[in-house]
Amino acid sequence: MCNDLDKVFTVGHDAKVRATVEHPELRIDADRLLRRLRELGEVGGIDGGGCARLALTDADRAGRDLVTMWMRDVGLQVSVDGIGNVVGTRPGREPGPPVMCGSHIDTVATGGIYDGNLGVLAGLEVIETLAESDVLTRRPLAVAFFTDEEGARFAPDMLGSLVYAGGMGVEVAHDIIGIDGARLGDDLERIGYLGSTPCPGQAPYAYVELHIEQGPVLEDHGDTIGAVTGVQGISWQELTISGQANHAGTTPMSYRHDAAYAAARVAVAVRDLAMAIGGHQVGTVGKVDLYPNLVNVVAARATVTVDLRNTDEAVLRRAEEALAGAVEELAGAEGVEISRRTLARFEPVSFDERIVDLVEATGRAFGHSVRRLPAGAGHDAQMLARMCPSGMIFVPSARGISHNPAEHTEPGQLAAGADVLLQVLVTLAEADSIPVVRSHPAPAGTGADPGAAITGAPPGAVVAGARRAGSHPGATGGSEVGGGSGSAEVTTSARDPR
Ligand code: GLV
Ligand code: MN
Ligand code: MN
Repeated sequence: MCNDLDKVFTVGHDAKVRATVEHPELRIDADRLLRRLRELGEVGGIDGGGCARLALTDADRAGRDLVTMWMRDVGLQVSVDGIGNVVGTRPGREPGPPVMCGSHIDTVATGGIYDGNLGVLAGLEVIETLAESDVLTRRPLAVAFFTDEEGARFAPDMLGSLVYAGGMGVEVAHDIIGIDGARLGDDLERIGYLGSTPCPGQAPYAYVELHIEQGPVLEDHGDTIGAVTGVQGISWQELTISGQANHAGTTPMSYRHDAAYAAARVAVAVRDLAMAIGGHQVGTVGKVDLYPNLVNVVAARATVTVDLRNTDEAVLRRAEEALAGAVEELAGAEGVEISRRTLARFEPVSFDERIVDLVEATGRAFGHSVRRLPAGAGHDAQMLARMCPSGMIFVPSARGISHNPAEHTEPGQLAAGADVLLQVLVTLAEADSIPVVRSHPAPAGTGADPGAAITGAPPGAVVAGARRAGSHPGATGGSEVGGGSGSAEVTTSARDPR
């Protein structure tokens, strides 16, 4: 690994950038980062080395208490807002909005110890490293962990960051009912994290999230750092299938209105439509509940969740339409009623190109192999992108496995990601404006070619510019979210009983 941070920042055409790289020698303490990851991983620990800290459970509270204590230990000023997001701030030499990093510390019920936790604990590592070196950045720095990123207990996912960014009112969020019947606001109070800091939160100067990739791309290509270009769109629906309970031994097959069978057919339809669409389309039935769920009773009711994702909004809509068509046909064929409720709906998001470029250039300056790629999972950064220039850094996931106790990233890769995070944060905190460290092709028809003026650019430096729109330069995407307790929006009627 080379230590070439000064050099890389001279490749851009913004001379100021070079002056902002004031601490190229700083490195996080990899052992301390790993120790904290493992200690937090023991909170809600499960067999196989993973953890279960579903949002706002007692295990989540214990994880929050530990991380909040660490935040205070490293000198951060801690605030908790009305949706339980925790932000630790370190003042800068000048006042103003902080450069923020972070992620989440809630997990799915079969979680690993890195998903989300890495971004938060690497942020702490950055703060502690700066403190040990007596470095006070020009802008304040903040480390956040956002409530209920996973959405596994309370839909939608990225709930805390959505509320932070003003995409959902805090009262609406408090009324969301979880998969176990709990009301979100009540559990927030119960675990002691119903804070008083107002939502939406203060817009950071910029937001950068370090995360494990949770997919196989970096490992397959032998890359250490991912410069994340954006996040794919997410569509979550819950289907409720109403059939007729009946005797498993006496009911001829042609008399049945079998909710379990229909649920299985939905799972097949989701697989088939994703395969038929191909490309980036993915589709998952991750949760099926049957009633009465007994060996000798034809199921009267089934609830089935469907998760559809694509990087292309138009294709994602096509997938949703294909699902709706399949559901209607199925309802008619089996004589069941199927109603649909939206649990989450987020359009694809493109990150700020300047931050994507800065991550790529910083990774290369360390001598790492860097790949630009979109994120397959949902992330808090896609919500923060609504309010400030945002980006993400990925490190590899062994065999692409996550949401599984077997989730693993090599210690050296964790440290590499955290060191890149440190340099990116310091650069953003010191520069007069968000640095431009690479040139993009001129828009078609202008005749200009700024890329031609650049010499010594890192390999593969020039890429096509992404579409830009939204509330600030570089952010795209929006959302319509069906609040978790929202009502059914589509009902497909049963055909006449046979
Ligand atoms: C949440 O992180 C998701 O991608 O499901
Ligand atoms: Mn995550
Ligand atoms: Mn996750």
